[in-house]
Amino acid sequence: MAARILHVSDLHTGTREDHEVEHALAALVKHVGPELIVASGDLTHRGRRAQHERAAAFLRSFGAPVLAVPGNHDLPYTFPARFTQPWVEFERQWETTEPTHSSPTLHVVGLNSARPYRHQGGALHAHQLRRAAERLEAAPPGAYRVVVLHHHMVGAPWRAARKRPVSRRNAVLRALVAAGADLILAGHIHQAAVSERHEFEVVSGDVRAAVVSIAPGLGQPRPNRLGEARGLHVYEAGRERSPCTRTSGAAATGDSLRAGSSRAGSARSWSNPASDVAGNVARFLGREHQAMEGRRERR
Ligand SMILES: [Fe+2]
Repeated sequence: MAARILHVSDLHTGTREDHEVEHALAALVKHVGPELIVASGDLTHRGRRAQHERAAAFLRSFGAPVLAVPGNHDLPYTFPARFTQPWVEFERQWETTEPTHSSPTLHVVGLNSARPYRHQGGALHAHQLRRAAERLEAAPPGAYRVVVLHHHMVGAPWRAARKRPVSRRNAVLRALVAAGADLILAGHIHQAAVSERHEFEVVSGDVRAAVVSIAPGLGQPRPNRLGEARGLHVYEAGRERSPCTRTSGAAATGDSLRAGSSRAGSARSWSNPASDVAGNVARFLGREHQAMEGRRERR
């Protein structure tokens, strides 16, 4: 059976919390049956202990394994804790800021791109990238290789002026793809964006495909801010190799990315008309949901 990842980001626990979202997400998780839930940062709004506790309890309430990395909002908001113990509350819940999930089908490497001295921006040190390459190298043969960080590497559909991509974006993206990442997940901009390697790099021949995907926010901390979406992504790493059939994308061989139109029917059944978020999730999955099938090419 294909391995599925359910990707949420930017919960911002501590702002508006919506019980209908919890119920809708629980139903969706049950339907999707993900091997792993990925949470790509900003689990909390102010990095407080109670917010971290609530976010972790929420993410773990679905019964699936969770891999979480911190975002810029998961640091303490106040001084001096922001600099003296930036990760204490995150690690109290998740043990590490750079976790790994490994199975015969999925090898997922989490990276910490948040920085205490940056308010919105993020970065990965050279030693983190070197270590990421080693961690990816340790993937079981045939496993789909996934990297998770908070800061985005492809742009938002709407302008997100204050939200810069991860520092030295091109070098980071090049390093992760070169290290064997098949799928790179992030959040931060509260908007959805997906790009396949042929859309961000000129390549020729039968090169290994790679996909960069930014999930919209699951939370909505600033409801009056324009250009922010709510929803989530679901990915499927299948065993079949097929051409890319993404409607707006270039044809590609290698691992595939395809629009999930065949899932629209089942996606609708996941909606709860009483919940705007569930409706958004259903619409997202029905019209825009990107399902990925494939496996990394044997090297
Ligand atoms: Fe955020």
